[in-house]
Amino acid sequence: MSSLKAGNAMNQVTSQKPHELLAATLSSEMEAVNSLIQTRMASKHAPRIPEVTAHLVEAGGKRLRPMLTLAAARLCGYEGEHHIKLAATVEFIHTATLLHDDVVDESGQRRGRPTANLLWDNKSSVLVGDYLFSRSFQLMVETGSLKVLDILANASATIAEGEVLQMTAASNLATDEAVYLQVVRGKTAALFSAATEVGGVIAGASETEIKALFDYGDALGIAFQIADDLLDYQGDSKATGKNVGDDFRERKLTLPVIKAVAQATDEEHAFWTRTIEKGRQEEGDLEQALALMAKYQTLEATRQDALNWAAKATDALTALPEHPIRQMLHDLADYVVSRLN
Ligand code: IPE
Ligand code: IPE
Ligand code: MG
Ligand code: MG
Repeated sequence: MSSLKAGNAMNQVTSQKPHELLAATLSSEMEAVNSLIQTRMASKHAPRIPEVTAHLVEAGGKRLRPMLTLAAARLCGYEGEHHIKLAATVEFIHTATLLHDDVVDESGQRRGRPTANLLWDNKSSVLVGDYLFSRSFQLMVETGSLKVLDILANASATIAEGEVLQMTAASNLATDEAVYLQVVRGKTAALFSAATEVGGVIAGASETEIKALFDYGDALGIAFQIADDLLDYQGDSKATGKNVGDDFRERKLTLPVIKAVAQATDEEHAFWTRTIEKGRQEEGDLEQALALMAKYQTLEATRQDALNWAAKATDALTALPEHPIRQMLHDLADYVVSRLN
């Protein structure tokens, strides 16, 4: 892939998706990140750890968050090596949260494969997730930057807080768009914004640039999760690697449903109470839920919200130096809303 970096070869890759173009541009650094992940997921004493981790890591994933760290560092002119460790840290945190999330959500499919909780068990997913979290902290300490530690430790706490808030709020029909935003900002955007912010910090960027990187990651993460919630109802499970309607079956109120509940008639409200709040779901309920979302055009409205967050992300980029990577980050923001997986 390194030839893709050469001058006019850029033309050959213009049809690539923005995250693929970023991956090609950052290919040698991404290779270093991937090999660091391979090395650090090992365990001397517990073979279950690399088994479970390899299952997830080898399934791929878009590696968006580590790419954001590398991109932010490059954009701010970084020439050192610590960004590789930070990018691996960020992907380890992400992998750990996915292991935990699939237990909490009782999900059966991830990255097109059966989940670790299904193939092994919940205990393995929880404990291996803990191991990866701890490994991520070892990695970030090696950078010697307290500022970076501060940002990533805060992000880890915020992610867990977002997941817990979601657990208590998601089946409650009183949950409104403001609570939803808080959940999404916590469970998803916190890692995106930390990923971009630490890239700037390690590069010694100015306060203004670091703030812009944070704002970009925050808005991108929110747009990304809103799009993900939309794909849960609209997506093709072959492309997303996850099952359609999982959120409904898991009784998880996401934006398309929150918007439908806000406009519901008494009868419709009773439907949402039964299916989401009480969890008494019957055959045909998912279809009925989709019909109500169609009635109020909430999937379209949700998509518009995602587009607005993507626009906020691209606005934030204007405070950053002009650079080919800045354009790729711009395109990435547009892409996360239109993506299929
Ligand atoms: C999945 O994130 C978790 C969410 C925040 C929705 P990604 O869609 O980035 O997952 P991978 O790493 O590409 O599998
Ligand atoms: C993703 O959340 C996990 C985290 C962001 C911690 P979701 O539960 O909404 O995402 P998927 O659909 O399982 O990837
Ligand atoms: Mg989940
Ligand atoms: Mg979840």
